[in-house]
Amino acid sequence: MPTLKDTYPLYLNNTAEQPNTDLEVTDKFTGEVAFRTALASPEVIDAAIAGAVRATDPMARLASYERKAVLDHCVTRFRERFDELAYALCVEAGKPINDSEGEVTRLIDTFQIAAEESTRLYGEVMPLDISQRARGYQSIWKRYPIGPCSFISPFNFPLNLAAHKVAPAIAVGCPFVMKPASKTPLGALIIGEILAETDLPEGAFSILPASRDGAGLFTVDERLKLLSFTGSPRVGWDLKARCGKKKVVLELGGNAAVIVDHDADLDDALERIIFGAFYQSGQSCIGVQRILIHEDVYDRFKDMLIEKTKSLIAGDPKDRDTFIGPMISEGEARRLKGWIDEAVEGGASLLTGGGREGNMLEATLLEGVNKDAKALNEEAFGPLAILQKFSDFDEALAEVNRSTFGLQAGIFTRDLFKMFDAWDRLQVGGVVINDVPSYRVDNMPYGGVKDSGLGREGIRFAMEDMTEIRNLVIRRG
Ligand code: SIN
Repeated sequence: MPTLKDTYPLYLNNTAEQPNTDLEVTDKFTGEVAFRTALASPEVIDAAIAGAVRATDPMARLASYERKAVLDHCVTRFRERFDELAYALCVEAGKPINDSEGEVTRLIDTFQIAAEESTRLYGEVMPLDISQRARGYQSIWKRYPIGPCSFISPFNFPLNLAAHKVAPAIAVGCPFVMKPASKTPLGALIIGEILAETDLPEGAFSILPASRDGAGLFTVDERLKLLSFTGSPRVGWDLKARCGKKKVVLELGGNAAVIVDHDADLDDALERIIFGAFYQSGQSCIGVQRILIHEDVYDRFKDMLIEKTKSLIAGDPKDRDTFIGPMISEGEARRLKGWIDEAVEGGASLLTGGGREGNMLEATLLEGVNKDAKALNEEAFGPLAILQKFSDFDEALAEVNRSTFGLQAGIFTRDLFKMFDAWDRLQVGGVVINDVPSYRVDNMPYGGVKDSGLGREGIRFAMEDMTEIRNLVIRRG
């Protein structure tokens, strides 16, 4: 069994530093302090931004093979430290060990993809002679790194959602300062430890846990040219309003829906929907929150869902049999329990679950939830899924679109025409056919519309955001 150290340093301008041990991070299952790390003061954050500014040119001048070598080194070291990384997630996030291992596998994919993409930052030659006035002209454009970036990463994927910012930044040659989530800083700090083994230019990266009060510079400082934030919609849109001139990428939440049409393979849909709704206790932006089921199969599928949900084992995330671990905090579990109770008071039926002890909330299914209920309309971010019956596919699409969010949607259907219809009409960043909205491979474009965010991650797409096109116009005499 791997162990954690008692204290971990922060990374300031590529170097481990331990100015204090002010941030206590708990084991989310036992509630005990698991380790301590430093909190960056505003002076430290300022020094990191100054370092990133100094590193802008040296980073931009790195050759593709040098950027690739850094990313390849990370892949090698993540593989070597696989068990330790998974254990760190399991402790600091309370993520069941199987899910934790899955996240480390994805972390490796993410850096691997970035290593490959770092040598493919292509541009284009364009003829400009579209009319007489431009006869003899052509243009060539290529991409230049945007400059120092600011990254704020969330608690639910402490490694891989940090990786979705760090890896493309290295791939294009942008220095960065990162604030990991205070409840789960270790994933990002270990990435820092591994980056510190490379010869990235001084100032290329800083990874700085910080209190919310001290963290304003990550948002407002004009030396930073891009802010990429993953987290709650409320915080994300507020940050955008304070960001000044910098480019902003927001990966925010959702209340993702899956449609189960009458022709779906119900056994297959069941396995996938249970996973999508309840893996890592539903704490994913694309966790299944709304299950829209065709009336012909509603009763049968509902019984299947209830039976399977009841069979999920809850408990210690370090135990391999555990499927439902703790939520990130008791406050969050209380909040969602409150929404469930409110929905039931408003007329919903509790099909299973609903119980809470500390930060452990039972996997919960509701039906008949009032259209105005928070449980249906806001982001649950916990182990709750709501069943809704539909009779007509168009009606189901309209119900998915009724949400203010639009991240991903899933559809179980064998009908090609419905697939294309859904792809055209759903207001989301991605439609997943015959799987849950929770499905993600790390090279695909990922992000939302409406309240779910701005921009796309998925390495290539993040690399586009982290670069600017610079054009060259040539007149040939
Ligand atoms: C998220 O919660 O935003 C990311 C989900 C994922 O990467 O699977």
